[in-house]
Amino acid sequence: MSTTPAHDPAKLAAARAAVALVQDGMKLGLGTGSTASIMVEVLAERVKAEGLSLRCAATSKATADLAESLGLRIESLDQIGWLDMTIDGADEVDPDLHLIKGGGGAHLREKIVAAASDRMVVIADPGKVVDQLGQFPLPVEVLQFGFETTRTLIRRALSDLGLGDHDVLQRLKGDDYWVTDEGNWILDLHLQAIPDAPALAHALAAIPGVVEQGLFLGMCELAIIGKPDGTVVKL
Ligand code: 5RP
Repeated sequence: MSTTPAHDPAKLAAARAAVALVQDGMKLGLGTGSTASIMVEVLAERVKAEGLSLRCAATSKATADLAESLGLRIESLDQIGWLDMTIDGADEVDPDLHLIKGGGGAHLREKIVAAASDRMVVIADPGKVVDQLGQFPLPVEVLQFGFETTRTLIRRALSDLGLGDHDVLQRLKGDDYWVTDEGNWILDLHLQAIPDAPALAHALAAIPGVVEQGLFLGMCELAIIGKPDGTVVKL
């Protein structure tokens, strides 16, 4: 499969620049989403062309399936242990490289894999770069047990933080509820702006039914922003 013509040129440029950071023998985390999928294709081509020996862990079943279909061998995170680098997409990137992730519903595994990596490299198109996080609805993975109670507790936490009354909507896939790889549901918090991301992350972590939320604070070391002309900017 060729990675050139069909893909968004900005995403492709970011993916290529990130794959250029990969060295033989590395242990890699592979992200989830359309940009990460392009990266997996570019990576598989490079592995084939150069005979690289890599060990890879995936952040979702979808990424594992794609990678294996392209000839990359996927191992579990625990089989590999610590990773040299994770390359993943993002829904929003702010000037301090804080992120919103989880638009693809994989932020739980993505956060675990990123936390087990020496460095997290984010790849994105320019539309993901923001001055302040929050325009993109913040995904929160929630246990099915006590789901409505958890939603009420989240609303209460938002109110306590002075964030006002915003939609806290269950994510759907067609006519069904969105179910994550871990069998949980997702609430999307339509906040418009998150003035104090650490306070929100802290408040959400204190709610028992919340499994993980999509704020990645202080985890990303490098963001590679691809541009439609094929160049990249590194943040
Ligand atoms: C999946 C994610 C993705 O990385 C994020 O949604 C960006 O996806 P895309 O590259 O398709 O815009 O966090 O959970």
